[in-house]
Amino acid sequence: MKTVTRVAELRQQISDWKKAGQRIALVPTMGNLHQGHLSLVKQAKDVADKVVVSIFINPLQFDDTSDLSAYPRTEGADAEKLAQVACDLIFMPSLTEVYPQDMAAQTKIMVSGADDILCGARRPGHFAGVATVVNKLFNMIQPDIAIFGEKDYQQLWVINKMVADLSLPIRIIGGEIVRESSGLAMSSRNQYLTESQRMQAAGLYQTLLTVKQQLQAGEKDFVLIENQAKLSLTEKGFDPDYIEIRRAFDLALPVEGDMSLRLLAAAKMGNARLIDNIAVQL
Ligand code: PAF
Repeated sequence: MKTVTRVAELRQQISDWKKAGQRIALVPTMGNLHQGHLSLVKQAKDVADKVVVSIFINPLQFDDTSDLSAYPRTEGADAEKLAQVACDLIFMPSLTEVYPQDMAAQTKIMVSGADDILCGARRPGHFAGVATVVNKLFNMIQPDIAIFGEKDYQQLWVINKMVADLSLPIRIIGGEIVRESSGLAMSSRNQYLTESQRMQAAGLYQTLLTVKQQLQAGEKDFVLIENQAKLSLTEKGFDPDYIEIRRAFDLALPVEGDMSLRLLAAAKMGNARLIDNIAVQL
């Protein structure tokens, strides 16, 4: 496994692999890797010859500077974990390698509709920051395939839309959510939780499961179900941002006859803002 920090060196390696006819998969990350990330790397190896993992904490996608400065930086431990799975190359660029000019002057990718709903509506500029850095990583690495975790379901939708809207020749694959035994979705942000909050935090998944049961039992008043679920989150010690029933395919509000739904939630517990989602098939 090789670690590269400069785009020029990265391009040389990628070009050698492409000349040899090898297919390249990218797993973009901000580091602080856990089992969820490692499962994406394993999935990448199943569909490509070479796997590149990028580790870059992208300031452009943080709407809160204290969140950015607190974000855990664990490059040494990350490299050790990646050496145990099938990663071929870690791309770990510096800030100036990715943004050589003033970030305020950076051209941004605004994915239409991303800022109007769910996390986009609560975190101004977040998805433009994500789409911009992912687009830059795509241009630097030129992967055939890129894999993103389904835990950030709206992010996966944003990337799929960007790829379709800009005709990028990259196949996007979603990786299943990896959960702790309590049901809590694995996330770098779980480490902001105390031990007791970590147990309580599994309540987010339990609430999603309850909503799923209600929908599958034929309950139709979505607004009432969402309001009850929000209340239930508050009772479980969360400060909920939203819990919403959406159409899985485009995250629009479901209409009569939609069978494939996604339940998405974001809620704060202590210092952590947690997100989670599950699929519901009617
Ligand atoms: O999901 C993440 O870790 C980040 O949003 C990503 C996709 C690496 C872009 O910075």
